[in-house]
Amino acid sequence: MVRAWAPGRVNLMGDHTDHTGGLVLPLAIDLGTTVTGRTNGDLVELRSPLEAQRAVVPRDVDHPAALAPSWARYVAGVVAELGPSTGFVGVVETTLPVGAGLSSSAALEVAVALALGFDGPALELARLCQRAEQRASGVPCGIMDQLASAAGVEGHALRIDCTTLEQEAVPLPDDIEVVVVDSGERRELATSAYAERARDCQAAQAEIGPLRVATPGDLAPLSDVVRRRARHVISENERVDELATALVAGDRGRMAEVIASSHRSLRDDFEVSTDVLDALVDRLAATDGVIGARLTGAGFGGCVVALVERGTPLPEDLTAWRVIPSAGARILDEDDTGPQ
Ligand code: GLA
Repeated sequence: MVRAWAPGRVNLMGDHTDHTGGLVLPLAIDLGTTVTGRTNGDLVELRSPLEAQRAVVPRDVDHPAALAPSWARYVAGVVAELGPSTGFVGVVETTLPVGAGLSSSAALEVAVALALGFDGPALELARLCQRAEQRASGVPCGIMDQLASAAGVEGHALRIDCTTLEQEAVPLPDDIEVVVVDSGERRELATSAYAERARDCQAAQAEIGPLRVATPGDLAPLSDVVRRRARHVISENERVDELATALVAGDRGRMAEVIASSHRSLRDDFEVSTDVLDALVDRLAATDGVIGARLTGAGFGGCVVALVERGTPLPEDLTAWRVIPSAGARILDEDDTGPQ
């Protein structure tokens, strides 16, 4: 019997930067997914108390995106990438809200890969699961979600340089809490719009070279929309280091400015916000004890992340999780109940 655990993630800063090799600052959270089971037979068969239909995946699956039910695609993506030598029968359980923008799919992929016997460094695990996600969803996603889930560090955010894939743990102040607030809006447009944004960034890079090293002075030759997309990425990369520095210094004023400017940039230049997200960010930012709030992840719905003074009460009508920066994915020992 094996039990594998993988956390979800929330991103503090650096959205839509990973697919052009930029900087990100996510943390693995205490909500996540467990896969429990044993090697058996020839198929990978998983069931979930949340899903009516099981995921049944042949070991030689070659079109993960064609499988039903849709959650089976993520399992199939991992099976296709990993090529396990035997089948597996087990159960998937999760404490993550599914499809809310906390990377429930990355947590599923990482937990499945570990349960099926992946054995190697966290970065390789993340790369395999990123490829699995791309195959399952057709979205040309970056590596942030899978790497945060695989390599999280307790009490810290991870500054990841998505060009070198170097990771640096950034300590979070003890008196600040990370709160994730659900907008209630599900990310329906996310798939096609994400690919469109990624194409805009590629178009910018084809003209002015890697956005990771470009500066605002390089933007002039770009046409309006592509220029705004590139301006978001260049400024967002800078904000990752600005927020990391402000966190280490405990500088609330700077945190507030950088977080507000990131949301504006995602709203106006990258155009991935919605009225619901904007209203939620404004409401949180005006709440006593909230240092700053911004949309987090891909956008088009999903969640807002806020930094708040520890213990700050939040309006009761909000669906919010006070998340704990947690260690990354692992196989749980017999007597380890995991973080749940
Ligand atoms: C999704 C993708 C990530 C990243 C974020 C936006 O979560 O899977 O790779 O691009 O959107 O920052």
